Amino acid sequence: MTSIRLCGSILLCTIAMSYGCTVVTDSDDAAVHGNPVITTEDDIPAVVAAMTLEEKVGQMVQTDIAAATPEEVRQFGIGSIIILIPEGNLKTTQAWRSIADDYQKEALQTRLGIPMVFAIDAVHGHSYFDGNSVILPHNIGLGATRNPQLVEQLAQLTAKELSATGVRWTFSPTIAVARNIRWGRTFESFGETVALQKMFATPFIEGYQGKDLTAAYAVGATAKHFVADGAVDDGVDRGNATVTEMQLRAMHLPGFIDAIDLGVVSIMASFSSINGEKVHGSKALLTDLLKNELGFDGVVITDWEGIDIGGLTLKEGLNAGFDVFMFAQSWKTSMPAIIELVESGEVPVARIDDAVTRILRMKLRLGLFSRPMSSPQYANSMGSTAHRNLARQAVRESLVLLKNDAGILPLDKRQSVVVVGSHANNVAFQCGGWTKKWQGAHTDLFGHPARPVDGATSIIDGIRNVIGHDNVIDAGVSGFNSDADVAIVVVGETPYAEGQGDRAAAELVLTSEQRVLIQRYHDAGTKVITVLISGRPLLVSDQIDQSAAFVAAWLPGSEGQGVAEVLFGDYDFSGKLGFSWPRSADQIPINVGDPDYDPLYQYGYGMTYDRSIASE
Ligand code: BGC
Repeated sequence: MTSIRLCGSILLCTIAMSYGCTVVTDSDDAAVHGNPVITTEDDIPAVVAAMTLEEKVGQMVQTDIAAATPEEVRQFGIGSIIILIPEGNLKTTQAWRSIADDYQKEALQTRLGIPMVFAIDAVHGHSYFDGNSVILPHNIGLGATRNPQLVEQLAQLTAKELSATGVRWTFSPTIAVARNIRWGRTFESFGETVALQKMFATPFIEGYQGKDLTAAYAVGATAKHFVADGAVDDGVDRGNATVTEMQLRAMHLPGFIDAIDLGVVSIMASFSSINGEKVHGSKALLTDLLKNELGFDGVVITDWEGIDIGGLTLKEGLNAGFDVFMFAQSWKTSMPAIIELVESGEVPVARIDDAVTRILRMKLRLGLFSRPMSSPQYANSMGSTAHRNLARQAVRESLVLLKNDAGILPLDKRQSVVVVGSHANNVAFQCGGWTKKWQGAHTDLFGHPARPVDGATSIIDGIRNVIGHDNVIDAGVSGFNSDADVAIVVVGETPYAEGQGDRAAAELVLTSEQRVLIQRYHDAGTKVITVLISGRPLLVSDQIDQSAAFVAAWLPGSEGQGVAEVLFGDYDFSGKLGFSWPRSADQIPINVGDPDYDPLYQYGYGMTYDRSIASE
């Protein structure tokens, strides 16, 4: 021990010294080098014992960055911040890091100097970063790759971009097994089977967390949403899942068990209910099952204002087993309310101590006690060519070829093609929800202005890059041009997130303009290659009939060129369906293993150029 920190209390000095920690005199020095009051898990009980109730509850609070200043983090000892809505024009890693460090410096000035942690919904790359970050295909596309090694690399890429901005905790991956494509979060799922949940949960988490979570690039992962979020009746987001215990355990739980075995640092509860019981209020699920039976020793976090949204009380949430509560402005009233619940004996102190122990354990695992400040180490990797190349590989491998009449694909690079459709030249549309803003980078349904997706390549630009500008005839969103024999028509869903994407089965169709467009080119005798950009299978039997080739491209993200590289034969198709493709609205929901299973394309279907039809 080389120096003595000016402690806020004699008690802290005693704790710090008894654990052989570095204690420094200069507060700036402490801010830079950290104040490791905890160096091993054995240190945690004494620190918890030394904390006041206010300090403990502060750790349990997570607020939106817009709802708390750095000074408030110090004053109330707030444990974590979610960057929900990025401040406009924060385009550099340096700008993000300096904000993160401003908050952290204040956290380190609290009596015990416990570091705070920044969290974000990096669900497909560092997708809320305002500048040049790589946007990955959404999970539905990753599931189609059937390539867990690649997914691990993609998660690691994301971790590097996150740590370059001072963010050490991501609310990803979603490991939902989506059982009804009407659900607006279907695209956050790898597919309809537990096999895909198990295939991708652990590599995803391992990519984020690495073998050593204290490594400069590693970030804490969150498996979400516990549990059976993808089983909601009629695909109604935040609704009720009618499932037997056997279905729950066999189909929705296994990925969580793997995640726990691997050491995932946190698990987020689902907004939804199971057989009428809100998960957010369920001690049976969060404490008895997750913590006690499955032995999860990390942090159980609510969803965004999950207690309030669930119509529950803080007491119910606390006694159910939550360790961290995600709040917006309401933290200001919730914090004293939690303190009162404990003081009045309605929530036992032991429950609070359990929560704080887990939070400190997570912060220890993240190495925050020894390295609380952000690191510029991976700044150059943000949006780098290497990262974009990897994301482009993911795009290529995610594409599923549903139809290829007379081997029209791959296209000849020397022929000219018409490129047309709402999604041909729209990077916001190809990225989908959770990109730059909650509902997506376009002007969304709430009227929030569009945001640029810096560094992204649209599908038409990708085609130009692959075959040259001269061979590409741009017919815009809906133009007709008969100068080429082949039209690549790129159409699909506009972005959405969560319940905003819930649909009736009959609504899972292209717009009438999109349908007319395909029909028009078909009727004119042009060979139509349809590229569908969507967060799920759509009812497109007629459009498939009118197309010579049909490709499900899901929500590919920023690297649109991956699509062209496969269409023009630089690479073969390899993607396979993670979801059964229905013939008609009355077949929805349809899942492999159903009695009388007769989809248009079965789970696992996907053609390749060598004509073999892959199928699982
Ligand atoms: C979503 C979560 C997300 C949280 C924080 C919620 O609405 O359900 O998946 O992590 O918001 O943004």
